[in-house]
Amino acid sequence: MDFSGIAVSYDERVLQPRAWTADQSRWAVEAMATAPPGPVLELCCGAGHIGLLATALTPVRVRRPLVAVDLNPAALVLTARNAEANGLAGWVEVREGDLTDVLAREELFAVIIADPPWVPEAQTAHYPEDPLLAIDGGPDGLTVARQCLAVVREHLAPGGLAVLQLGTAEQARDLEVGSHGLAVAEVRHGERGVLVGLRRDRSAAGSGSLS
Ligand SMILES: C[S@@+](CC[C@H](N)C(=O)[O-])C[C@H]1O[C@@H](n2cnc3c(N)ncnc32)[C@H](O)[C@@H]1O
Repeated sequence: MDFSGIAVSYDERVLQPRAWTADQSRWAVEAMATAPPGPVLELCCGAGHIGLLATALTPVRVRRPLVAVDLNPAALVLTARNAEANGLAGWVEVREGDLTDVLAREELFAVIIADPPWVPEAQTAHYPEDPLLAIDGGPDGLTVARQCLAVVREHLAPGGLAVLQLGTAEQARDLEVGSHGLAVAEVRHGERGVLVGLRRDRSAAGSGSLS
């Protein structure tokens, strides 16, 4: 498929790319313009299209390396293939494993893209065409999202931005990002979900209001 200008291959082992999520790529590009030096991290990359589009949209002179993470080995095969197909292989490192396990303690990223599964487990049967691993977010849909927040807290460089994709603004509120030492910079609404911009918040535990 064409994903806002890059060629993306996918199959039934991963989630079908959603066109609107190119907004997440564009927000990451926007963030890179002012973020401190450093690479980009993509958590829950699936076929890799969101991070790859962000990389492709960034002029080569300011392009940053991308580390793409997924638990599903098939996703990383597709991400590597899609990187190659778009002439981006030299910019992308794929890491297979649980997102809580694949980063070294000292690694920092200027921009983090995160796209965890967010469907409450009791509702996953409504989406039989989607792989369970890609959509099952546990009892309240936020289990993996909370793990993403912990990674953002530990690995987002000061002054950097994380862009987290969720299903609804209510989920974004329920996450209580302030209790993870993060603050909401902005929420953007997409066709089938929301994007939440997050910064480190060293001043206020308990902040993170979405109002
Ligand atoms: C909602 S899908 C998003 C995939 C892709 N970004 C997209 O837009 O199609 C969530 C992805 O998270 C991966 N995933 C689920 N749990 C994970 C975990 N604990 N660590 C790393 N990846 C995980 C799944 O394999 C799946 O590819």
